[in-house]
This record gives sequence, structure tokens and C-alpha cells, in this order.
Amino acid sequence: MSDTRPNVSVLSLVNQKGGCGKTTTAVNLAGALAARGETVLLVDLDPQAHATMALGCALEDEPSVAEVLLDEATILETIQPAPGGIDLLPADPRLGEFEEVSERLLNPEQRLARALAGLGERYRWVIVDCPPRADGVLCANALFASTTALLIVETGAFALQGALQALRVFDQTAERQGYRPPVKVVGTLFDRRTKFARELLVAMHGRFGDDMFDTVIRTSVRLREAPAVGLPIHELAPTSRAAADFDSLVEEVLAQLAPKTKTAPPQAATESPVDAERAEGPARSTRRART
Ligand SMILES: Nc1ncnc2c1ncn2[C@@H]1O[C@H](COP(=O)(O)OP(=O)(O)OP(=O)(O)O)[C@@H](O)[C@H]1O
Ligand SMILES: [Mg+2]
Repeated sequence: MSDTRPNVSVLSLVNQKGGCGKTTTAVNLAGALAARGETVLLVDLDPQAHATMALGCALEDEPSVAEVLLDEATILETIQPAPGGIDLLPADPRLGEFEEVSERLLNPEQRLARALAGLGERYRWVIVDCPPRADGVLCANALFASTTALLIVETGAFALQGALQALRVFDQTAERQGYRPPVKVVGTLFDRRTKFARELLVAMHGRFGDDMFDTVIRTSVRLREAPAVGLPIHELAPTSRAAADFDSLVEEVLAQLAPKTKTAPPQAATESPVDAERAEGPARSTRRART
């Protein structure tokens, strides 16, 4: 993937542990990148559709990522604009059907990579929010399409064990697929008032070294509220501590994971590639994000 599409960085947010902050980090990392004027596509690859809901986008009869993976819709007709300058490839529970039929498909784990290849050079960043099942075909799709996997680790009890277990699952998937993206660790839900959390963070840095970002996402009431109003933190509370945490993460991501070559400057966040596509020609859906 990194060889064939050098102008885009595809980051998948993964962990088989539920509730560790994958969706929160995916939505707000995408929002923070977009706030910097970067072109970002957020792919909701979870049948729970939490990222879609967190951006206030509710699907009715429109196609979702499931139809794209099943070749029943094109990626361009499925992407929709979301708040904060993010473009969203939305999910709904039909994604569970893809998991069910995938056994009958040829190379089902390569479907997302194939769909993303159809985007040309529209985005510098693709952020993929994964379900809490690291051994399934959806996570396999994300890993196969990724230039880097971001392992999201809640800085709570059993965090290190959970992270190491997740890495073992990735290794098994990678061996099957013959491709393993590099992994970077992001600590989340950090409460610095807790001695345990502070010690755990030190232990995680000791274990993962340069493979762990210096930024840790702290627990924040605003981050917990943001999905209910359907906005990324940069729209809801741009001067908040939580927005500052994501700005700090973006600094590191830009410094370490930016696409290797850059053929065009990033577009302003106000005109998304989806809007550009709409202006260019083919009839586009009129659906808009609920903002
Ligand atoms: N930094 C944070 N501060 C406060 N609350 C947070 C933070 N990160 C996540 N949460 C909250 O924790 C819960 C789980 O977060 P999230 O949905 O991002 O996890 P997840 O890993 O995507 O879960 P799942 O495995 O179900 O997809 C949510 O209620 C979310 O609002
Ligand atoms: Mg989630």
C-alpha cells in the first residue's frame, strides 16, 4: 500500500479491546488534521457506526462502507461531508453483512485498499476507525490498507497486557496477508492524578520506546460530550485542553507519518475533496451531515 499510494498516509486505529478510545481518537485526530488544512477522509469500519454517529451523520437509504466493500457502490458516491472539514465514509449495521459473506469472496481483506486506490490523490490522510475485533475481516482490511497502524491503549488496568495481546493478533493477521504495517502506540484516557496511570505511562514508554507517541490523550469531559452533539472537539471547543492534546498528537503525526511525497498542497478545510468532486460533475447525493 505504501509503495503504490505514496501520496496518502492511511492510519488505522486498532485494538481488540472495546472502549479504549479508538473512535474518539479517530474522529478527533481527523478533526485536528482537517483544522490544520489537511485533506482527511475518515473511514468508519465498525458496524457499530460510532464514528458516523459521533459526527452527527445518520444514514437512511444512502450507501455505506458496506456497499463499497461489496462492490455495490463507488467510494466517491458514498463519501459524505461531515462537520469540521472531515470527509466521511460512513458505516451502518449492514457492515456486519460484509463480515458474513466475506468467506465467499476472493481476497476479502483487500477490498478497502482497492476502494481507496480509486480515490486518486484527493486526500493526504485516511483515518480508519476499526471495530474492537482485531482478528476479523474488517480489521484485516484496515491493516492491509494501512501505511501505519495506531494501537490505541487506554492507560488503565491491564493496558500493557492488552496492547501486547493486540500486537500478537496483528502479527497473525500480517503473516496470513504477507503485509504488516508499522505500529505506533497512542495512550488514551490518561488521568494524571492517578499514580497508577503515571507509572503505567512510564512503563509503556519503556516497553514501546520510539514506537509510542509522546502525546497522551487525557480524560476530558468535553471529549465525552462531543459525540452527543455530533462535532469533533475542534468544532465544539477549539481552545479546550482536549483540542490541545489532539493538536499535539497531530504535530507528531505530521512530523513522523506524513505521506512521503507531496504533489499538491493540502486544500483549505473549507473546500473538501467531496465538494470539489460535486463541483466537477457527476451527480452527487444531496445528503448532508446533520450539524
Ligand atoms: N479521552 C477521553 N476522555 C473522556 N472520555 C473518553 C475519552 N476517550 C474516550 N472516552 C469515552 O470512552 C468511551 C469509549 O470511547 P470510544 O468509543 O472512543 O472507544 P472505542 O475503543 O472506539 O470503543 P469500541 O471498542 O466500542 O469501538 C466513550 O464513552 C467515550 O466518550
Ligand atoms: Mg469505536
